Amino acid sequence: MISFDSKNKTFKLDTPNTSYVIGVVDFDQLVNLYYGDKIADTEGLEARSFRPRCASFSPLTSEYNTDAHDFSPDCAPMEYGCNGCGDFRTSALSIRNVDGNTVTDMRYEGYRIYAGKPSIDPLPAVYLNSESEADTLEIDMADKVTGMRVTLIYTAFNSLDVIIRSARIENASQRPADIDRAMSMCVDLPGMDYDLITLYGRHCKERSEERRPLAHGLQGIASKRGVSSHCQNPFAALVSKNADENSGEAYGFNLVYSGNFEFCTECDYSGTSRILMGINPTDFTWHLEPGESFQTPEAVMVHTSKGIGEMSRIYHKLYNFNLVPGKYRTEKRPLLINSWEAAFFDFDTDKLVSFAERAKEFGMDMLVMDDGWFGDKYPRNNGTSSLGDWVVCKEKLPEGIKGLTASAREKGLKFGIWIEPEMTNSKSELFEKHPEWVIQQPHREMHKGRGGTQLVLDLSNPEVQEFVFGVVDKLMTAHPEIAYIKWDANMTLFNYGSTYLPRDKQSHLYIAYHRGLENILKRIHAKYPGLVMQACASGGGRINYGMLPYYDEFWTSDNTDALQRIFIQWGVSNFFPAVAMASHVSVDTNYQTGRKTPLKLRFDVAMSGRMGMELQPAHMTDEDKAFARRAIADYKLIRPVVQQGDLYRLISPFDKTGYASLMYVSPEKDHAAYFVYKLEQYHNMPRPAFRMAGLDPQKRYLVRELSLDGKPIPQDGKTFTGAFLMETGLDFEVGGEHASHVLELKAAE
Ligand code: DGJ
Repeated sequence: MISFDSKNKTFKLDTPNTSYVIGVVDFDQLVNLYYGDKIADTEGLEARSFRPRCASFSPLTSEYNTDAHDFSPDCAPMEYGCNGCGDFRTSALSIRNVDGNTVTDMRYEGYRIYAGKPSIDPLPAVYLNSESEADTLEIDMADKVTGMRVTLIYTAFNSLDVIIRSARIENASQRPADIDRAMSMCVDLPGMDYDLITLYGRHCKERSEERRPLAHGLQGIASKRGVSSHCQNPFAALVSKNADENSGEAYGFNLVYSGNFEFCTECDYSGTSRILMGINPTDFTWHLEPGESFQTPEAVMVHTSKGIGEMSRIYHKLYNFNLVPGKYRTEKRPLLINSWEAAFFDFDTDKLVSFAERAKEFGMDMLVMDDGWFGDKYPRNNGTSSLGDWVVCKEKLPEGIKGLTASAREKGLKFGIWIEPEMTNSKSELFEKHPEWVIQQPHREMHKGRGGTQLVLDLSNPEVQEFVFGVVDKLMTAHPEIAYIKWDANMTLFNYGSTYLPRDKQSHLYIAYHRGLENILKRIHAKYPGLVMQACASGGGRINYGMLPYYDEFWTSDNTDALQRIFIQWGVSNFFPAVAMASHVSVDTNYQTGRKTPLKLRFDVAMSGRMGMELQPAHMTDEDKAFARRAIADYKLIRPVVQQGDLYRLISPFDKTGYASLMYVSPEKDHAAYFVYKLEQYHNMPRPAFRMAGLDPQKRYLVRELSLDGKPIPQDGKTFTGAFLMETGLDFEVGGEHASHVLELKAAE
């Protein structure tokens, strides 16, 4: 719900539990008056003074002088702080006009409020299921000297505590201009008594939680790799000092964009905190001819005073209902066996058919053929060649993909395939034919990625877009049974330059690349709406909202070591639900870490996400196979609640207690799945009470242990009230290092 109070000149955006208030104050300046728990009205907010607030002592009058200036952008909570007009903090917008200066002074002009949400083509966006789901406010601002205009766009959800922001910048002047910086959002919060939570990482160690106090000056995260990266993904939270999973204030910020991004906080002398999020201004200069406009990506803001756990649950709901393709909202994701860690490049039809047989016997739903199936002149036997040559490698698969889809069909399994269509290798037929199609700089030697040969295709070029769309289109036309695509991308955008873009648009490349990708994905989605897609970028390099709504899930990490996956999945769960996290049981001596962990731990960790397998079934003992069958059958019992339920994080692995535990509860609170893992064992180790959360205190729950590999816990088969489970908790011995338990809770009749 959005309203405008014409007397006080305030806009009030309400979600079920939050309010966001914007005021038009002296000199048509736009300021942020409030963002927090829902308030009944805006009375009093408009009276806030935006004159300098620091009182200074005058030796002449022997008085404190508190009223020195008129409105000062420098100490006001500016709604979209601009460059060069008296606001000395980092700006949201900076435009270089034809005179060469960068002064950008935007003043309020007018507004529109309407039901629904605008399209922000050509960018990915949060979608609505019906117009009544949200209202939108558009505020127009203009720089009277340069003729540039900006429209701030806010969409407030009626049933979720979500506000989406973006900005559209328009050159309404008669002369060209260049945008040097255009953030999606800018919020100035009063005070700086917050902690900043970000998730740093690297390949095989994605999304580690980091919590630090806000400090004066600049802090933040960013990516300049062309795609959002393993190091940082575009999300962050500001939380009150006392905030934990269940209580305290939490503000979440998430960018719907997979390219270069920046998130920063700036605390200045007046003790306010500016928060900015948007496209990274490095190597971003967008040229606007008269009449042209530039749309920023959307930033998704969440506020709650019910703790960090509630912030995550709000983001999870948004993912489920307004980001992933609608088809998956209630459906269960397939239990799949993927060939990568089971075979790497070394497979043939027989081996894959044997995987399918075993998958069927285990009760799985799908066989996925990973890297290594293609290449004619250059067969793909390692990472050094063939990307771009998307024809079947006849030596490995003499009967082609058809032979495999037929075999999968016979066994009642679906079939999925791996591609990396944005890339090529210098050793490939594609590169031989089209060397101009790769991202490159004139006169400089190309930096090559994986295998010393990998290169990125220039998606700013419509011809290349057509080719990449054709990769999927040809596969799907020839094999309509393909139900799943693992879409990989194993290189950052090196060699920044395009043979397609003109000289004055070279700085558009990073954005033009993502617009090109969006165009391809939109066409694929329109033509093949039932196709499930996984976004993979050497594991979790592309875990961000910008890959949605075309992808259903992420390959969470190339690190499949169950122990380390507990940390990685924990970090990802801050912003993404379990259903988005592909989590596969892998081989005994983990190939990334060299660690051996029990098969039960590997299954129990995979069961807390979208479970799958990368195990070579031929290497499993009969005992392992029997356990796998049991665990898979048990996963099916809890799959709906893991994939669609509400997440409650209980004991964080980052707290280093030696334990980690989490649970999922159905929206009706009649079904839950509980997981506990023993991360390490030390002498005289205290055992915490295994308290649960999210249950109905009045209901009685029957506890059943799943994925059993030994004796069940003493409470197995008994019933307890939700109040007992949440307040007292279950007391049982988890076992030694790397032991784990999975419990199913069902409300007793
Ligand atoms: C990187 C991915 O993360 C792996 O899962 C696998 O698909 C390889 N690429 C294949 O080359």
